[in-house]
Amino acid sequence: MERKSTSLILVGVLAAITAVHAEGKMKIEKSVFGKTKDGHSVDLYTLTNDHGMIVTLTNWGASIVSIQVPDRSGKNADVLLGYDNADGYIGDTAYLGATVGRYGNRIGKGRFKLDGKEYKLAQNNGENHLHGGVAGFNKKLWDAKEVKAADGVAVQMHYVSKDGEEGYPGNLDVTVTFTLDNKNEIKIDYLATTDKATVVNLTNHSYFNLLGDAAGDILGHEIMLSADRFTPVDVGLIPTGELRPVAGTPLDFKQPKAIGARINDKYEQLVFGKGYDHNWIINPTGPAPRLAARLSEPKTGRVMEVLTTEPGIQFYSGNFLDGSIKGKKGKAYQFRNGLCLETQHFPDSPNHPDFPSTTLKPGAKYQTTTIYRFSAK
Ligand code: BGC
Repeated sequence: MERKSTSLILVGVLAAITAVHAEGKMKIEKSVFGKTKDGHSVDLYTLTNDHGMIVTLTNWGASIVSIQVPDRSGKNADVLLGYDNADGYIGDTAYLGATVGRYGNRIGKGRFKLDGKEYKLAQNNGENHLHGGVAGFNKKLWDAKEVKAADGVAVQMHYVSKDGEEGYPGNLDVTVTFTLDNKNEIKIDYLATTDKATVVNLTNHSYFNLLGDAAGDILGHEIMLSADRFTPVDVGLIPTGELRPVAGTPLDFKQPKAIGARINDKYEQLVFGKGYDHNWIINPTGPAPRLAARLSEPKTGRVMEVLTTEPGIQFYSGNFLDGSIKGKKGKAYQFRNGLCLETQHFPDSPNHPDFPSTTLKPGAKYQTTTIYRFSAK
């Protein structure tokens, strides 16, 4: 009898030890974040690494909810815009933290041809299609589970987008895995397969503010973009097809520069974008994932590097934020309170045969990786 209870206690202790990961303090906790309108539970996953970096994720929209990272004095703050509960994400109109798909960014006039057939998508951004349509991947409840990762703690999200959803052809099976490691990196691995030829361009739409808690605009942040060229756009933000050198333009961030330094220049591209809202062509140098961007904030010393296997990156300086969104702790997100660095294929690629292809065929794998790496200096 006594022996039995001792072994039971031992089993319990062992289970508790394995729940806290072998890596040390690394752990994942799951809690309730809210409910969908039809009563499904929306979950929150809290990932912690050995250095006290904390990342929260939700399976609504496969979204990153918060990223707490230290400044140069070791003080943690949340560098992401977002909401306090699932209702915020369910009602969101600005893609805060979300996985965007089936096609991140714009498709001109919401039309494209594939294998001779024309497909019509929602025109949910003027006459153009934006971020997967009226109810893109950001508006879906994904299946989520904790998975093993060699170098950290990870959550895998899964969603099947039905043939014809939002006008896209083919059943698309999508898996997005988020891993937090001890190098203070969040790695996002995207994987998709289809049963009919389709187009795919997945990205994450996190809004960053390295001051922490959205404590001001992002104009004082410095940014480096590893790109000699960008894809200029028309007034509806659809690429014209030109690949233009950044040299001599306000889009030249080959050397780090304050975002606010030239954002109000009367350069036509900045007028069209109401600031920065463009796709930079990442210099294809070095092994992938390669460094695409380095963002730093001089007051706090926080630094974020973006590495990716993708050919492009959309730097969007939060020009459409106007105080109407009430985010975490009731804070209204004002003009340029956050910025996005969306790794991607180029906008409107399905209508630009010269751009790297976004077509996915049955039997092939869509596979990309993006890393957000944090430090302080
Ligand atoms: C686009 C912006 C758009 C925003 C919506 C960004 O990815 O580049 O033009 O307004 O998403 O939140």
